[in-house]
Amino acid sequence: MSSHPSSYIREDLISLCCRRTMQPRCGNSACHVLMLVLCLSAAEDFDWTKNNHGSFYYGTFPTGFSWGAGGSAYQTEGAWDKDGKGLSIWDVFSHKKGKIQLNDTGDSSCESYYKIKDDISLMKEIRLNHYRFSISWPRIIPTGVKSDHVNGKGIQFYDELIDHLLENHITPIVTLYHWDLPQVLQEKYGGWQNISMVNHFNDFANLCFEKFGDRVKHWITFNNPWSMAVEGYETGEHAPGLKLRGTGAYRAAHHIIKAHAKVWHTYDTQWRAKQKGLVGISLSGDWGEPVDISNQKDIEAAERYVQFYLGWFATPIFHGDYPQVMKDFVGRKSVQQGLGTSRLPVFSSQEKSYIKGTCDFLGIGHFTTRYITQRNDPTGRSSNSYFTDRDLAELVDPRWPDPGSEWLYSVPWGFRRLLNFVKTQYGNPMIYVTENGVSEKMMCTELCDEWRIQYYKDYINEMLKAIRDGVNVKGYTAWSLLDKFEWDEGYSERFGLYYVDFRNKNKPRYPKASVQFYKRIISSNGFPNQREVENWRRKAVEMCSSSNQLLAAEEQRSTAANILRLIHDPLTSHMEMVTEIVVPTVCTLSILISAVLLMFLLRRRN
Ligand code: NOJ
Repeated sequence: MSSHPSSYIREDLISLCCRRTMQPRCGNSACHVLMLVLCLSAAEDFDWTKNNHGSFYYGTFPTGFSWGAGGSAYQTEGAWDKDGKGLSIWDVFSHKKGKIQLNDTGDSSCESYYKIKDDISLMKEIRLNHYRFSISWPRIIPTGVKSDHVNGKGIQFYDELIDHLLENHITPIVTLYHWDLPQVLQEKYGGWQNISMVNHFNDFANLCFEKFGDRVKHWITFNNPWSMAVEGYETGEHAPGLKLRGTGAYRAAHHIIKAHAKVWHTYDTQWRAKQKGLVGISLSGDWGEPVDISNQKDIEAAERYVQFYLGWFATPIFHGDYPQVMKDFVGRKSVQQGLGTSRLPVFSSQEKSYIKGTCDFLGIGHFTTRYITQRNDPTGRSSNSYFTDRDLAELVDPRWPDPGSEWLYSVPWGFRRLLNFVKTQYGNPMIYVTENGVSEKMMCTELCDEWRIQYYKDYINEMLKAIRDGVNVKGYTAWSLLDKFEWDEGYSERFGLYYVDFRNKNKPRYPKASVQFYKRIISSNGFPNQREVENWRRKAVEMCSSSNQLLAAEEQRSTAANILRLIHDPLTSHMEMVTEIVVPTVCTLSILISAVLLMFLLRRRN
């Protein structure tokens, strides 16, 4: 990493442990206990020695900084087969047994399709400046092919959403592709394995510019293409569920990058002068920190981690080609495997210049950090995968808080480093943070999410420090506005500022404590002083306990109603119960069992 920080203060003894993460990252599960050294030396673009993990910075964001929250079509809309919508790869994938936790689907999810006005009231309550959402391609072009048919009702839905947002002074930030490819394109062409996606996607994007571009000024072509490529075509954990190890992800990414560039050029040549908007891409990236910074091999491994993640997409878009380290590693491994050419596709020189510079702003989705150490692929030359191509192992510090998703550890300082990395590597582009947030596991209903308050407080503070470092961050998007369908995790992980009761057909929303806290950050445009920030936290937690009681009462009421039905008509009601209580929580289950026992005893006495 040419500009990788080579200097910062490291702490005492840190025990690091391999943990199961989203992907098969750590080959062995042994704990590593490593003595990390104190190391100080001169920094080039960023003074890493000042990155004191413990210190909180009180101060405000630049005037005009945009505060938002987000969601995506498949994760929130529901209405999967309504009003002429075509099938997406996620509709089909989630309907296959065994792909999603508890075989859940996004069929109805938050029913946001029917709740535009309600959700906008929630946004107003927080005083959001922007809302990030995505357009479902098959909702407006059911087969994915524009010349086949454009669905007027789909256009109308997004028209209304955009209009209502604007009427309420909320800027729409619109993602064109948040993973829901029209199923027909998958079946006919193999989806992103096929170059023909570039033109189909361009036609779809062009239609969106035509229909909505008079009002939408911030466009994101793709959300998190890393995940599309790796989880969709390498591990198969996500739709379309293909396991084309060692080649599928690289091929998909190659076409995605070309499609992004084409759409940027379409906007640039056909719409920009008139509509005056911006077109960017949203890339995700965990930060990778060397385990032992006195070890050159670890430093290089950490660099590779970030380059294979964020750099895979950002380097072509900003510099015209894949990171050198990717070309070297995948190329070398391909030769060792006896292949005539690299598994990493090659851009022609024409393509390089066409792709370079196709980004008006960079969207960054960031959640967590890993420690990285050099490790050669133990499976040897026969193994063929994106993961083994990198020759590294990922580790986590067991002391890092991990309140929700298994892969998500709270490591705020990694955020500042990632943002500084973007600044130095890609010429300080305009950045919108398009996703940042934390989940909770769906155990007992809990609206008093103090750990989320802590996460937001610390991550947003690290972003503020990054802005002070000179990183050009223009906006921040809390992820997410609502609890929602969390891909292969179903509804088991809740990222929302608002709790959604998925068991209730009306999908009511309840504010978590973090709503109050985030709202204060927004109204103060930062963190005024310690006393006030502490007050916000205290008040937020106080306020949430009454909503918590409300929700608990509501849950008990619906549980009791279900039990009554169960007792009156044991056979059919039981069948209803199973479908209605989509995911019984630990709490509800215990209430249910005690109530059934109680009724049983009462009946026997009678
Ligand atoms: C990134 C994805 O873009 C988003 O849809 C998802 O909710 C978050 N990761 C959290 O898993």
